[in-house]
Amino acid sequence: MTNAGPAVAVHNPLFRIDNLSKRFPGVVALDQVSLDVNAGEVLGLVGENGAGKSTLIKSITGFHSPDGGALYFDGKRLEHITPHYSMSIGIACIYQELNLAPFLSVAENIFLGREQIKIKGLGWLDRGYQREETQKILDMLGMKIDPETTVGSMGVGHQQMVEIARAIRANAKMIIMDEPTASLSAHESEKLLQIIRYLKSENVSVIYISHHLEEVLAICDRITVLRDGKSVGTVNAKEVTVDDLVKMMVGRDITHKYPKVKATLGEEMLRVEHLERRGVLHDISFSVRAGEILGFAGLVGSGRTETARAITGADPIDGGKIFVQGKLARIKKPRDSIEAGIAFLTEDRKGQGLILLKDIEFNSTMVNLKSYMGRALLNLNRCRQDAEEKVEELRIRCPGIDMPAGNLSGGNQQKVVIAKWLLSNSNIFIFDEPTRGIDVGAKVEVYNLMNELVKNGAAVIMISSEMDECMGMSDRIIVFHEGRITAEFTAEEATQEKIMYAASGITTG
Ligand SMILES: Nc1ncnc2c1ncn2[C@@H]1O[C@H](COP(=O)(O)OP(=O)(O)OP(=O)(O)O)[C@@H](O)[C@H]1O
Ligand SMILES: [Mg+2]
Repeated sequence: MTNAGPAVAVHNPLFRIDNLSKRFPGVVALDQVSLDVNAGEVLGLVGENGAGKSTLIKSITGFHSPDGGALYFDGKRLEHITPHYSMSIGIACIYQELNLAPFLSVAENIFLGREQIKIKGLGWLDRGYQREETQKILDMLGMKIDPETTVGSMGVGHQQMVEIARAIRANAKMIIMDEPTASLSAHESEKLLQIIRYLKSENVSVIYISHHLEEVLAICDRITVLRDGKSVGTVNAKEVTVDDLVKMMVGRDITHKYPKVKATLGEEMLRVEHLERRGVLHDISFSVRAGEILGFAGLVGSGRTETARAITGADPIDGGKIFVQGKLARIKKPRDSIEAGIAFLTEDRKGQGLILLKDIEFNSTMVNLKSYMGRALLNLNRCRQDAEEKVEELRIRCPGIDMPAGNLSGGNQQKVVIAKWLLSNSNIFIFDEPTRGIDVGAKVEVYNLMNELVKNGAAVIMISSEMDECMGMSDRIIVFHEGRITAEFTAEEATQEKIMYAASGITTG
């Protein structure tokens, strides 16, 4: 056991973890992990999906009680931590899954649990004061958000900003961010990085978790790497490269980041003509063939997801035609598109992709229950077999397919959504940000699966905000801007610059 020792130690970090361990049934999520964070320091925390990052921070904030180890904050040993206690001593956390009250306003969320009382004892809320204070923080952070807006009506990016404003308002000494940029646009991510630099200058410490390793290198001072619940080491950001981090995370080099294999093109699988949705989509026309990966590039909100939703019957359309394998398709609701053989892997896995209380087997086989029906009974053996096979193929980290999906790590939940659609009888796949929140090694598995799909005659549409990914895996790319298609390129023609231009609405030739 280490002793806290006198406060005059040469190295006196704000926060320290000693040999922290946490077990779940069948999983050692954390195995004797140690790390420390200095005041005003940004410490990166990286590792594959399921490595234990979220478990670590939930143990710090008191959502999990650890099985062993010790935590020290501001010179004191922390014991019996609860979420409320950790907040009261100055530790704030922005969780991977957002934590705001959707029906309350921005100001109400920021003051939630710390409401400003006007006259002591009478329990009045001073709304004017709350609004003004909220406005001050938002201004300081350069966020153009109205304090009165209902949080549930804002995009995920703005909600994330509100969480940050709330942490700052709470005067946190240390702010933990679990994949804060996973659902932010490039512009919002840049803004967040600026905010972190500002926090640093105010001597606030930050623990920063992300799968965007370039970003981690750019913003962090030191980086702690977790693998299989163990700490592999802590490095100085200035002294390592992305490849070094990858090697520490996965224990091997990853040589082909984008393992694109060209497949033979076959018949036209999907054709969209003059699709219209008032105020959202204008004259969207394109087609995709068997054997082809068609990339949808563009900024967040440019109409890519909206196009996918319109095609799959999730949103109504005001005009246009959809042809599946040459035949006019009448798609009025998502069920119709599933029957037409279109699989849509949504970007919002929590909201639309999974039933978190149900196990992996159920989640991965649910779209396809029909095909598991025998004369009267469900063929449970085949369900199990298929689910197990996909868990293996996609390297979903879990003790077994009976585990509720909600207990999986964020990235592994995403893989279950992918498994679900791979087990459907589809031949047209729309992947919306398929590798968001997925670690570097698993990304390659997802790309290989796409290769496999097109090789077997499927057509794939990939919506991606990662320019490298879009260029690295697509055969053809169409670019969206404000609900319209502004350009189309073959993989050979496409350059980062051309796509950027088209995405910002500047058309050339
Ligand atoms: N409540 C729980 N019950 C059982 N097992 C859990 C629970 N929470 C997490 N686990 C398991 O603990 C391990 C670590 O998960 P954790 O969420 O910490 O990973 P992570 O590093 O945050 O991954 P990701 O990058 O995918 O978010 C995983 O194997 C996960 O399935
Ligand atoms: Mg996590």
